[in-house]
Amino acid sequence: MEIIEKAPAKINLGLDVKGKREDGYHELDMIMASVDLSDRITVKEMPDETGIRLQSNSSFVPLNKKNHAYKAAVLIKQTFHIQKGVEIFIDKKIPIAAGLAGGSSDAAATLRALNKLWQLNLSQEALAKLGEQIGSDVPYCVYGQTARVTGRGEYVKPIANAKKPWVILVKPDFGVSTPEIFRHVNSETISHPDISSLEVAVMNGDIDNVLTYMGNSLEDVTIDKHPLILKIKNRLLSSGADGVLMSGSGPTVFALCYHEKKARRLCNSIKGFCDEVYLVRML
Ligand code: C5P
Repeated sequence: MEIIEKAPAKINLGLDVKGKREDGYHELDMIMASVDLSDRITVKEMPDETGIRLQSNSSFVPLNKKNHAYKAAVLIKQTFHIQKGVEIFIDKKIPIAAGLAGGSSDAAATLRALNKLWQLNLSQEALAKLGEQIGSDVPYCVYGQTARVTGRGEYVKPIANAKKPWVILVKPDFGVSTPEIFRHVNSETISHPDISSLEVAVMNGDIDNVLTYMGNSLEDVTIDKHPLILKIKNRLLSSGADGVLMSGSGPTVFALCYHEKKARRLCNSIKGFCDEVYLVRML
């Protein structure tokens, strides 16, 4: 038996860092959304074995115990005392260390797939709770739909998203370390986007207010280290994007476009400026 699950990338329409917690994590308030740029996870039982075999089409994916999909399989096997062996194949499409939660989404898809493979009948809530142990973005990725996300990432409240724009993802050719960006957050100087107003705008499909209220506390921190991100933002804005923001801790920049023709034009115009560009839809 073989189960296939999609693992979509996420973007942050809003990300407010509210402060640092005693456990070292930061308290966040976010609006997250998924886009149709997806990895694909295939899980297959290995009848005569008990271990976990991890494979991928991409040489950039770590095939070891640090891999989030591997961690998800260990967690499920240990929690439910499963002795059976499993093979996990990661068909990689989402760029790595990009601020798009590719690894977390692979973990969430592995949780969903193993839940089916081994007929565990776990609810989304239960899978998200398990996902918390793997990484802060995993609970959101279990849901994979527009949501307001709080805490360190463990509280996920799905919300309706009335208008689903085209999204142009522009990934500069360097990665960013999330812990390093969080280490440089200065709570005195960072911006604080109004996430409650953004939530209302997203639910009402109020494009003007979505564009007004989208914002990311981490953007200035990452731009300080990588000024190219600001150049990409400016380029997208001057080419006619409706709204532009860095996703997560970066470095991927996304542009929202509510008209397909404009989105395609914008995508072509930025391709000459940056190699890795994707035109996708919000899910
Ligand atoms: O939870 P995860 O392992 O994905 O987080 C990676 C790192 O990002 C953490 O070790 C921490 O440095 C930082 N982080 C944070 N606050 C969060 C989420 C992540 O400081 N809410």
